[in-house]
Amino acid sequence: AQDPRLARISSAIRVIPNFPKPGIMFQDITTLLLDTKAFKDTIDLFVERYRDQNISVVAGVEARGFIFGPPIALAIGAKFVPMRKPNKLPGEVISEEYSLEYGTDKIEMHVGAVQPGERALVIDDLIATGGTLCAAVNLLERVGVHVAECACVIELPELKGRERLGDRSLFVLVNGA
Ligand code: PRP
Repeated sequence: AQDPRLARISSAIRVIPNFPKPGIMFQDITTLLLDTKAFKDTIDLFVERYRDQNISVVAGVEARGFIFGPPIALAIGAKFVPMRKPNKLPGEVISEEYSLEYGTDKIEMHVGAVQPGERALVIDDLIATGGTLCAAVNLLERVGVHVAECACVIELPELKGRERLGDRSLFVLVNGA
């Protein structure tokens, strides 16, 4: 039987059709943040899973990984590292490019934010094609960090992001509507 908290989390996520483009069913987590019980349950479910796993880094992907990552990091005693869109971080950065349907994108992390040998959790609100999470994992692995797992609130299974992640472990709470 699945955890009874998951149904409430799932119903607190609002789906907005045709945003930002025709045909996209946008999974809007801002309504989850308004439901104090569902938001707390979301954080608790991640904290219960990761609290005893020796994770020293929670890496959050811009933008909504910045919402879910910090409360998890505080609760498990890990640091929080933002993985940002290009040209946002002011210090020296290491960056990783990844392919989109049309063109490429990039994410960046500050040099010195993590040390070789650290154990990380990568968090975002949603996995679609998996390109973003894959780039985040690659970036951390390039600097010698072990990624224990990637975690998202929502997965869109039909986009096969899980396959793009290969043998990296992915944990999600709910599937997108
Ligand atoms: C969304 C989502 C993930 C990414 C997932 O971010 O929050 O970060 O797309 O897609 P993928 O699995 O196909 O890579 P978005 O592009 O909307 O950027 P934003 O968070 O800055 O709004």
